[in-house]
Amino acid sequence: MAYETGDEFTKSVLKRWQDIPDPRLRQVMQSAIKHLHAFTSEVQPTGAEWFKAIQFLTAIGHKCDEKRQEFILASDVFGVSMLIDDINNRRVAGATPSTVEGPFHIPDAPEIANGADMAKGAPGIPCFVTGTVRGLNGEPVGGAVLDLWQTDGEGLYEEQRRTTEPWMRGVYHSQPDGSYSVRTVAPISYTIPMDGPIGALMGRTDMSHMRPAHIHFAISAPGYHGVVTHLFRKGDEWIEKDVVYGVKAPLVVEFVKKPPGKAPNGETIDTPFYEVKYDFILEQAQAALAAAE
Ligand SMILES: [Fe+2]
Repeated sequence: MAYETGDEFTKSVLKRWQDIPDPRLRQVMQSAIKHLHAFTSEVQPTGAEWFKAIQFLTAIGHKCDEKRQEFILASDVFGVSMLIDDINNRRVAGATPSTVEGPFHIPDAPEIANGADMAKGAPGIPCFVTGTVRGLNGEPVGGAVLDLWQTDGEGLYEEQRRTTEPWMRGVYHSQPDGSYSVRTVAPISYTIPMDGPIGALMGRTDMSHMRPAHIHFAISAPGYHGVVTHLFRKGDEWIEKDVVYGVKAPLVVEFVKKPPGKAPNGETIDTPFYEVKYDFILEQAQAALAAAE
């Protein structure tokens, strides 16, 4: 058997990997092999370097458990998560844009009544987020599910607190008039986890490993495209260099500092607090539009 090198060898590998009945898998594998070979040919790794790459990927897997997701973190800091978001969630102008989900979402958050407290004693400055969920024509969207998660006022998520009870997350529902009312504490800017292989890699660069302060929202309502997004705190020093590239201008909002007194949910607060107002605009799903015609 002749032995091949360089491009000829890549062509032979690609030819063998054509024998896949599933056309999508065939397309994916052809592209993966083409680009992996091109990358390897360009970098010309030594055997030791290649083994280091294998160890890096192995370490990412070992760092994952049911709450820690180092692969998502890798996808986030390489900008791939935002690329996937861009490919799959292009909404029409006027709809609230999506952004990266990140590695900290935990499913099945507790249900929280409208206006009730999601922070439940967590450290931080009280923060009230109110607004409406609406369609593009301004119609109120009642019964929308708002799944929220965020850091506490010390910059830590549930996964990092390792609590047994849910921490800084909850599910709210919009009211029949589309309104919603959240009591929480203000999130702060935070570093991505630096105790794993992605943190070690970031530590070898001069890039920021910070995320500007934000609250995560996953909003869904029947008949509408759901949106996974954040609200970012305007004026945060990291807003221009979010390590996961997640900031979009329409998602940057003012956290207005208020003196002690009556809060938007009717409570009286004896310390200064923040007020955030935001209307989420959902795009109708095509199936719902077709049914209406
Ligand atoms: Fe986050």
